[in-house]
Amino acid sequence: MDNKIVVITGGSSGIGRALCNCFIDAGYKVAIASRSVEILEKVKSDLRSEGHEILTVKTDVRVDNDCKNLVDKVIEKYGKIDVFINNAGITWYESNEDGINIKKHKEIMDTNHFGTVQCTKYALPHLLKSKGSLVGVCSIAGEVGLPNRSAYSASKFAMNGFLNSLRVQYLNKGLQVLITYVGYTSTNIRKIVKDDSKSSHFPPGYGDAVKEKGMMTPAEAATHIFNGVKKRKRSVRSSAVGQLTVWLNKLFPRLNDKLAAKYYS
Ligand SMILES: NC(=O)c1ccc[n+]([C@@H]2O[C@H](COP(=O)([O-])OP(=O)(O)OC[C@H]3O[C@@H](n4cnc5c(N)ncnc54)[C@H](OP(=O)(O)O)[C@@H]3O)[C@@H](O)[C@H]2O)c1
Repeated sequence: MDNKIVVITGGSSGIGRALCNCFIDAGYKVAIASRSVEILEKVKSDLRSEGHEILTVKTDVRVDNDCKNLVDKVIEKYGKIDVFINNAGITWYESNEDGINIKKHKEIMDTNHFGTVQCTKYALPHLLKSKGSLVGVCSIAGEVGLPNRSAYSASKFAMNGFLNSLRVQYLNKGLQVLITYVGYTSTNIRKIVKDDSKSSHFPPGYGDAVKEKGMMTPAEAATHIFNGVKKRKRSVRSSAVGQLTVWLNKLFPRLNDKLAAKYYS
């Protein structure tokens, strides 16, 4: 059988790493990209010891030429791309006392939004050729403004608008554009920001990544995303709380503001 090819940015950790397992189990050839060569090599050798070969490409999605290089390397090795998952992302929690941090806003926009735009620019011609799937790992914060997360919310709203626009633009070209609005998932994303922040604004249940209470596991989040690709859906919301938040926001926006301020602070 002709193997399908999936590329996962941020595939070395958390949801991206779990996606890697899902697609391998389904018989895909997998390429993953992130900045740390050591972690990429560790993932590669762990998978090799289980009998799987993957392609790893050191990539900083903020760097246009890195994104081009990622796509070039995948095409050189596999000749096509069937699924491209824009998953690499970072977050930030700002306290009222710290105020709005412009440096952080730019850093997060560069990674979450422009990283998606740059990778998509190079992957898109190949996805149009394969009638494949362009995926964005977005967030409930990309549909509803969450308190103390203005930088993250803004970057995910931007990414959401970009991908929704492309879906309509290429509607009759056989391209699937899937946006996945992931809920709280127990990964390194908050641990990294905690190490770098004085902010006291963290979600309920924050602890060491493995101990976070009331959150999905990366494997659960990845399964929702994988099923969304297989069923060629346009969107997926992986948590019941997230689903409720989005519907309340549409139907009773003022009430939702109050609940979001309480639940997400
Ligand atoms: N966890 C949640 O609660 C949650 C909820 C909603 C949405 N999401 C979204 O899910 C996605 C994955 O996050 P996660 O929770 O799995 O976090 P994670 O465990 O911290 O993984 C983030 C991945 O992105 C990579 N990355 C970060 N900056 C990058 C850059 N500039 N270039 C290339 N790779 C980069 C990291 O590797 P390097 O640092 O080595 O580059 C890592 O592989 C993100 O887009 C996040 O916004 C997460």
